[in-house]
Amino acid sequence: MALSWALAVLSLLPLLEAQNPGLVNLTALNPALVNLTVIPITNATLEQLSGRWFFIGSAFRNPEYKLEAQKIQADFFDFVPNLTEDTMLVQEYQTIEDKCIYTSSHLRVQRENGTFSKLEGDREHFALLLLPKDPKIFMLAFSLEDKQNRGLSFYAVRPKVTLKQQEEFEEAIISAGMLKSEITYVDWTKDLCGPLHRQKELEKKEENKEPKEDVA
Ligand SMILES: *[C@@H]1O[C@H](CO)[C@@H](O)[C@H](O)[C@H]1NC(C)=O
Ligand SMILES: *[C@@H]1O[C@H](CO)[C@@H](O)[C@H](O)[C@H]1NC(C)=O
Ligand SMILES: *[C@@H]1O[C@H](CO)[C@@H](O)[C@H](O)[C@H]1NC(C)=O
Ligand SMILES: *[C@@H]1O[C@H](CO)[C@@H](O)[C@H](O)[C@H]1NC(C)=O
Ligand SMILES: *[C@@H]1O[C@H](CO)[C@@H](O)[C@H](O)[C@H]1NC(C)=O
Repeated sequence: MALSWALAVLSLLPLLEAQNPGLVNLTALNPALVNLTVIPITNATLEQLSGRWFFIGSAFRNPEYKLEAQKIQADFFDFVPNLTEDTMLVQEYQTIEDKCIYTSSHLRVQRENGTFSKLEGDREHFALLLLPKDPKIFMLAFSLEDKQNRGLSFYAVRPKVTLKQQEEFEEAIISAGMLKSEITYVDWTKDLCGPLHRQKELEKKEENKEPKEDVA
């Protein structure tokens, strides 16, 4: 599903590029998608995304994604791009069922498609990167072409967003043909990962201080 949608977007590329080289304008795809541009991912994009992000909320119609998202009480992660491999390392701290879960995984970057993907077992899940004008937020779009499975997720550099940032997400939700009532926001006060994160930061500092030892 995600894949066929990526194709739909791709087939629009030549059309849209003619009017706006290098920039795919979602407004042309759907006039309601104001101020959201699909852009080919560049080194600059990856550098802009590098660093700490907080998961703010999402709306998913795909039952599997929805279930996953609803379990998340709080979530933050560090993006570490690799510009030569076209990958993004994600070091993620999720609070789920009152427990902190740390995971480290890699996303693949499809630069020209403006997408990230994640391999889970033998399935590759695709997400389209949406960059609003405000560089302190970004969104991922899933299966926009598919009414039954579409979804959007929302991230920001701080665990709390401004009203204006929240409105940007809600506008995107409406533009994507979903309802505000479908959004689930996380509750930052439920975060239990702060302590684990601080411990990991300390470990990192220690590692950097001491010369690396070879572990046989
Ligand atoms: C971009 O998307 C198309 C269609 O899904 C796919 O065939 C192509 O392999 C993708 N490009 C990359 C670099 O993954
Ligand atoms: C996107 O397209 C709309 C309609 O053609 C235009 O008004 C808007 O300025 C475009 N946005 C960008 C960022 O190019
Ligand atoms: C789109 O961006 C322009 C310029 O930044 C802003 O004035 C306008 O309110 C935005 N529209 C929406 C729907 O966010
Ligand atoms: C990117 O990946 C390559 C191959 O795994 C590795 O050699 C390189 O050090 C990585 N670069 C960064 C900045 O992590
Ligand atoms: C992106 O950055 C990598 C690593 O610095 C470099 O090898 C590559 O040429 C850059 N690509 C572009 C298009 O600048």
